[in-house]
Amino acid sequence: MTNILMDTQLKNLVVLALAARSKAYAPYSKFAVGAAVKCRSGAVFAGANIENRSLGLTICAERVAMGAAVAGGERDFVAIAVTSDSDQPIVPCGACRQFLPEFNPDLIIVSATVRGDRKIDNLSRLLPNPTRGILKHADPS
Ligand code: THU
Repeated sequence: MTNILMDTQLKNLVVLALAARSKAYAPYSKFAVGAAVKCRSGAVFAGANIENRSLGLTICAERVAMGAAVAGGERDFVAIAVTSDSDQPIVPCGACRQFLPEFNPDLIIVSATVRGDRKIDNLSRLLPNPTRGILKHADPS
């Protein structure tokens, strides 16, 4: 399933994530990241990193993209593409690994560089048991 997605829809998702990179606000690190999240409905929402003078309040591209999708009424996500101009494809940071599984712990992660290197991973491998011990009795519905 993942391979089929990679051949078609995930490639398009990477293209949209690369386009979103141009919107990055990264005056401090100068490291622009673009992301695009694919919803099961077929809709795609993009985002780029937004840095802040405090540095610590910087928001990664992945969280911006998913926030845009949720604000757009989506909660069922299939995959997210993350793009950067780095030597190796980057994977979501620790904060994003905790944030992204909220709606789908098995999210497909496609990481790509501007030069075309790609890596596919799964969020459940990057952060197993994302809900363990956290608000155990809370019902998110
Ligand atoms: N960044 C992302 O947007 N996503 C990642 O997966 C890794 C890091 C951003 C945060 C910060 O603006 C810059 O890249 C340097 O860490």
